[in-house]
Amino acid sequence: MINNCDRSAWIHGGECNCPNRLEPRKKAFRFVLLGAPGVGKGTLAALLSEKLKICQLATGDIFRNLKQLPEEELTPALKTSLEHMLRGELVPDDIVIEVVRDRMKCLNCPAGFILDGFPRTLKQAEALDEMLAELNIELDAVINLEMPIDKIIERLGARRICKICGAVYNLVNRRPKIDGKCDHCGGELYQREDDKPESIRVRMDIYNKLTTPLIEYYSKKGKLLTIDATIEVYGVYNEIKRILDSDGYMPPL
Ligand code: AP5
Repeated sequence: MINNCDRSAWIHGGECNCPNRLEPRKKAFRFVLLGAPGVGKGTLAALLSEKLKICQLATGDIFRNLKQLPEEELTPALKTSLEHMLRGELVPDDIVIEVVRDRMKCLNCPAGFILDGFPRTLKQAEALDEMLAELNIELDAVINLEMPIDKIIERLGARRICKICGAVYNLVNRRPKIDGKCDHCGGELYQREDDKPESIRVRMDIYNKLTTPLIEYYSKKGKLLTIDATIEVYGVYNEIKRILDSDGYMPPL
């Protein structure tokens, strides 16, 4: 799976030349993906992005990209973000909210968006509400992926990511055709630094403390759709389509 959008406006900032913006369509889709680290948000976002031709907007991608920037381009706030991320902690709310606010044109895309990894705290959720109200748009659904923690840890240990295009693999169930190389672009596959056991534990604790309150927040707004994430990603897509797509706008697999 690979995204239609190169996500460069989202990851690096700047003007958006995304082809999804120009694609004629009957309906925009606006989703938030919620769920513990490693539950499969990025994998599902890539499939939704490919099928629905909308962009995957992952805040994690923005912060991971900071590692590539030359030292002189890193402001003190960005350096702080990077340090938090590498320890498995959340980047402070004010920085994340500013980063997303700077990219509001991606939220305002006529195609819609899949927000992957934002919001992650109540403060971020309230900030997103404000941004959407300013743009006069609404979320279609907040898709909450659920899976037992031991299964998640297993998945994270086997995850590999392409250095160039960000495609996600798994050494157990989603192996690349050639070991260590991306099927899409031939890029080198690597293991994320925050997938080390000590960082995974920090990320899980933080998720339980700061992100799970969003389940109630969106449930009260009538936006929450909880899905069993233990099944393979195509099953997850079909389940979302079955529940949300009574009008038949989501293409079949
Ligand atoms: P981020 O990149 O968002 O990481 P995360 O939420 O920890 O989620 P992951 O990317 O680890 O997992 P995923 O759910 O996408 O799973 P994946 O699809 O890869 O954030 C990283 C860091 O950035 C944070 O820790 C924080 O520091 C910072 N940050 C980002 N956003 C922030 C915010 N809003 N506020 C503050 N800080 C922020 O799948 C995992 C593995 O499972 C893969 O190998 C995959 O192949 C496999 N898999 C997936 N789905 C399936 C399936 N259905 N069946 C079988 N295998 C599957």
